[in-house]
Amino acid sequence: MRVRGMALQLAIIGMLVAAVTAAPEFPIAKPGCSDRCGNVSIPYPFGTGPGCYRGSRFLITCNDSFNPPKAFLTTSTITVTEITLGGKLHVEKYIAKDCYNASGRTRSFNPTTLQLAKFIVSDADNIFVSIGCDTVASLSGNLKEAGSTGNEYEVGCTSSCNSLKYVPNDTCSGIGCCRTSLAKGVNRFALSVTSQKNHSGILDFSPCSYAFIIEEKKFNFSKSYLWELKNVDKLPMVVDWSIGNNSCAEVTKNTSACQGNSTCYDPDNGNGYLCRCLDGYRGNPYLPNGCLDIDECTDATVNHNCTHHCTNSVGNYTCSCPKGYHGDGRKNGDGCIRRRSLVIQIAVGIGVGLTSLLMGITWLFWGYKKWKLVKLKEKFFRQNGGLMLEQQLSRREGPGLRTSAKHPWTNDESNVEETEYLLGKSMEIVGFEEMAGTSVGYPSLQNHLMQSLGGGR
Ligand SMILES: *[C@@H]1O[C@H](CO)[C@@H](O)[C@H](O)[C@H]1NC(C)=O
Ligand SMILES: *[C@@H]1O[C@H](CO)[C@@H](O)[C@H](O)[C@H]1NC(C)=O
Ligand SMILES: *[C@@H]1O[C@H](CO)[C@@H](O)[C@H](O)[C@H]1NC(C)=O
Ligand SMILES: *[C@@H]1O[C@H](CO)[C@@H](O)[C@H](O)[C@H]1NC(C)=O
Ligand SMILES: *[C@@H]1O[C@H](CO)[C@@H](O)[C@H](O)[C@H]1NC(C)=O
Ligand SMILES: *[C@@H]1O[C@H](CO)[C@@H](O)[C@H](O)[C@H]1NC(C)=O
Ligand SMILES: *[C@@H]1O[C@H](CO)[C@@H](O)[C@H](O)[C@H]1NC(C)=O
Ligand SMILES: *[C@@H]1O[C@H](CO)[C@@H](O)[C@H](O)[C@H]1NC(C)=O
Ligand SMILES: *[C@@H]1O[C@H](CO)[C@@H](O)[C@H](O)[C@H]1NC(C)=O
Ligand SMILES: *[C@@H]1O[C@H](CO)[C@@H](O)[C@H](O)[C@H]1NC(C)=O
Ligand SMILES: *[C@@H]1O[C@H](CO)[C@@H](O)[C@H](O)[C@H]1NC(C)=O
Repeated sequence: MRVRGMALQLAIIGMLVAAVTAAPEFPIAKPGCSDRCGNVSIPYPFGTGPGCYRGSRFLITCNDSFNPPKAFLTTSTITVTEITLGGKLHVEKYIAKDCYNASGRTRSFNPTTLQLAKFIVSDADNIFVSIGCDTVASLSGNLKEAGSTGNEYEVGCTSSCNSLKYVPNDTCSGIGCCRTSLAKGVNRFALSVTSQKNHSGILDFSPCSYAFIIEEKKFNFSKSYLWELKNVDKLPMVVDWSIGNNSCAEVTKNTSACQGNSTCYDPDNGNGYLCRCLDGYRGNPYLPNGCLDIDECTDATVNHNCTHHCTNSVGNYTCSCPKGYHGDGRKNGDGCIRRRSLVIQIAVGIGVGLTSLLMGITWLFWGYKKWKLVKLKEKFFRQNGGLMLEQQLSRREGPGLRTSAKHPWTNDESNVEETEYLLGKSMEIVGFEEMAGTSVGYPSLQNHLMQSLGGGR
């Protein structure tokens, strides 16, 4: 009982220690720099104050007059909602609108432009959408390519509908809503939206036309967008960020582009490079000593797949098994298995033991037989003058001896009599025994012996 109580105490202490050691929040900002603006955490290379960010493109302006404070990209009106170290910047961007009432055009943000000095609009995460029943929208983009400027492209969407009942409730099908994918490498774009008929005849359900780039995951068309988006100013969009102008291959020619315990990789979209902590490390790969070893064994967020014992190592961990077990100790591997060889050893041990015992018994039995035979011989000599029996015995044993003499087991004369038994000649002696009225079951014992010796050879 006391042992169990102590074990429990130890377990609790262990858990406390684990909780304390699993807690380290990896620093994400430079020492002395703010790593947060309102709800948004700001990892280096981004930063809010002087000396806290890496080049002007990584400046985040934190405006405290909002509650919670809002983060803006550089000095723009683009709201930043999330920054990932994987090279994604989640922002909110004004949408382009063109609205009408019976008197005509009422208000518009037309056209909307976005100029990202170095960053790229993510083609993988966003789509271009226009909404309205009297809508002509276009996206003109500028492709950022090393060594060239002004590679313009344009894509457009026109949609027109004269009744709400043809607009599907929740699919952007081309009726009242049009969507298209984005090109890679767009760092500057302009959205424009206008109408052909001033929305006349459809003002009750489609007073406006809208055009925007939106994070695809966050867009579910609903026909109510036709009138509800009138009150929405900004929608979410994803921007790809990277460091520098050159790829890993170029940058790593001279220096190691990334810090220790991290590795360089090229972004899917745009130029520059990114860094990532090596497997088994976590932290901010853009800070010196930013990537630290994960203690997989105690970290609550890591599912170390050990069935029994887990040992942390730098950059990895190992699973092991208790004594008497073997295997890799991994849940998705062999796990821990009771040593099969031990079982076999015990089985073999028992087998050998039994065999030895059997042989011992048999040898004892033989010894007794030999002794008995001698006694019998003596008795016959005494009673019947012996000579006759001796002749009889030698006649009987003769062929057996000759046979056995050639047998490899028989190296010297001392074995002769035993060999005789082993070669089966003993059956005659069994008969002899039976005449003498002693042992039964001897042949079966002898068969045992033959088998075990035969098996042993
Ligand atoms: C920001 O924090 C406030 C409370 O502090 C919360 O109500 C709000 O949902 C958060 N917004 C985001 C985008 O996380
Ligand atoms: C913060 O936002 C308010 C309201 O939009 C604006 O008037 C103010 O100039 C901003 N402050 C900074 C430092 O950008
Ligand atoms: C149309 O909107 C303008 C500006 O908002 C307003 O002055 C005008 O009265 C509106 N006309 C009608 C018919 O609602
Ligand atoms: C759209 O939804 C309404 C109810 O919300 C339903 O009556 C109508 O049939 C739906 N239309 C389509 C095309 O799904
Ligand atoms: C749309 O309204 C403008 C004024 O806002 C007017 O000049 C134009 O003629 C109208 N066009 C149509 C097709 O009604
Ligand atoms: C979009 O619709 C799908 C299916 O109707 C739903 O599972 C998903 O959560 C919706 N997404 C958003 C952002 O509303
Ligand atoms: C990237 O290239 C631009 C000119 O294209 C240059 O002004 C800038 O200094 C370069 N930045 C880096 C980090 O090399
Ligand atoms: C590499 O070093 C050479 C000279 O040492 C220099 O000219 C070149 O610009 C450097 N390249 C990069 C990518 O820093
Ligand atoms: C960790 O160790 C396991 C087993 O030794 C190995 O398969 C795996 O590749 C290692 N992981 C890393 C990141 O080194
Ligand atoms: C690499 O990780 C180890 C283990 O966490 C740490 O001790 C070391 O300081 C790191 N090295 C660098 C250069 O970050
Ligand atoms: C544990 O196993 C799961 C499923 O095989 C795997 O996805 C996960 O990466 C493993 N965890 C570790 C730390 O190796």
